[in-house]
Amino acid sequence: MVVRCAKQSDGKANHREELEMGIKLLGAGKVEKSKRSIWRSSIKLWIIRVITSVLLWTSVIQLIALGEMWGPKLLKGWPDCPDVTPAVEKSNAPAEFVPPPKRIYKNNGYLMVSCNGGLNQMRAAICDMVTIARHLNVTLIVPELDKTSFWSDRSVFQDIFDVDHFITSLRDDVRILKELPPRLKKRVELGMFYSLPPISWSNILYYENQILPLVQKYKVVHLNRTDARLANNGLPSEIQKLRCQVNFNALRFTSLIELLGRRIVRILREKGPFLVLHLRYEMDMLAFSGCTHGCNLVEEEELRKMRYAIPWWKEKVINSEMKRHDGLCPLTPEETALVLTALGIDENVQIYIAAGEIYGGERRMASLLSAFPNLVRKETLLEPSELRYIQDHSSQMAALDYLVSLESDIFVPTYDGNMAKVVEGHRRFLGFKKTILLDRKLLVGLIDKYTHGSLSWDDFSSIVKEAHANRMGSPRQRVVIPGKPKEEDYFYANPEECLQLLDEPLRSS
Ligand SMILES: *[C@@H]1O[C@H](CO)[C@@H](O)[C@H](O)[C@H]1NC(C)=O
Ligand SMILES: *[C@@H]1O[C@H](CO)[C@@H](O)[C@H](O)[C@H]1NC(C)=O
Repeated sequence: MVVRCAKQSDGKANHREELEMGIKLLGAGKVEKSKRSIWRSSIKLWIIRVITSVLLWTSVIQLIALGEMWGPKLLKGWPDCPDVTPAVEKSNAPAEFVPPPKRIYKNNGYLMVSCNGGLNQMRAAICDMVTIARHLNVTLIVPELDKTSFWSDRSVFQDIFDVDHFITSLRDDVRILKELPPRLKKRVELGMFYSLPPISWSNILYYENQILPLVQKYKVVHLNRTDARLANNGLPSEIQKLRCQVNFNALRFTSLIELLGRRIVRILREKGPFLVLHLRYEMDMLAFSGCTHGCNLVEEEELRKMRYAIPWWKEKVINSEMKRHDGLCPLTPEETALVLTALGIDENVQIYIAAGEIYGGERRMASLLSAFPNLVRKETLLEPSELRYIQDHSSQMAALDYLVSLESDIFVPTYDGNMAKVVEGHRRFLGFKKTILLDRKLLVGLIDKYTHGSLSWDDFSSIVKEAHANRMGSPRQRVVIPGKPKEEDYFYANPEECLQLLDEPLRSS
């Protein structure tokens, strides 16, 4: 089990800084093993696991603090950041996995789900669907993934996730089957089931009161849309914790993806610290959002055509500059170069670009490359033969980027899409690892002032630093706005209920 931990020091008027380190904890799994049979619920087991890890971690942090080992400094002009990678990390024998006992319950029926969207939207949806199935005491059929979305990846669940681990690690919560039993399959083939898109941002009571009776009546219910179908807030903590358990424990990528991910991280680590830049400057993003700042006329036309060609992208007439000034556009590569430099990111740091093809190619990447010469991506770190099996599968390639993003010293997304949010939340879970959450609305205004000469570099840089001092993925409360779920913080970006243990007093340590 890889556990990452970060601790807050109070930098007073200055910046709140995080202490980061990566250590492999091998003991934790064994400590609990003898207790395992006592705990019937995996939630309990999981909480114990977290507490154990936290306890061990506290001691590790203290030991490290004593050791006074100072790691590489990535952010210039910021307080020193101790960064230690102890030797334990080198032994990476996988922790032995003992499956929990099956939960015995009266099955109320079968739930089929078809996820929609890209990898990370589906990831969050899978967590929600498991949680709903658990709560309704139904049997979940392994979720079907979206093959018709923009990315048109033919991958099925088991091409991306370790399906057996998914099923067994959750079996003390809910029964999950790879497919319907033959008798029910017949019924479904005959159309004897109920299909519907559940209402977005619903409370669990909606599923109890509206969906459960349908399951009982039809035996098989198919939820044919899954994005954001469970509320961010106002849910019992065991529901929130189960969402996390699925996200952080049960969903594991296939061994091929894990292997490639570890290989990339090893190559990067050998050369020192690295930053992952989720540069969401890809054609689909720009066509969809209508953000054309920095594009030439031919490109603008190409993006516009693509937007009009895709029927489910509803917004067609878009004022790019207005949208950009509202902070609704991904930063361009040029803007990103300025911002990273202004933040004081070391120009020699390795920057791993977690993205598909950058729109405009080399021309648009030139300024970023000249500011940060050590730009790498999976295609430059691995041999083509290593990527052969996954390169035509956008979701599997995205999964690889996800793994590298989790491991990085700093994660910077240039847009707040699903990948940015889910990775942000996962990094919080791994010990509030540094994620720089760019304030794009503020930044584009400052960038324009700087490039028009009405703001000096030094002022630009210090305002940018100041504005982001508290946007580093440190602990904070999730924003709750009753009645406006779209404007709230996304549960998966800050799964607070699963992080609180880190703040609680540790009496026994
Ligand atoms: C689910 O099963 C548990 C017992 O395992 C029971 O307490 C609960 O009421 C059941 N819920 C539903 C919705 O059937
Ligand atoms: C979901 O099912 C409903 C009811 O059968 C149908 O009207 C709707 O088009 C389906 N949606 C999708 C995305 O398949």
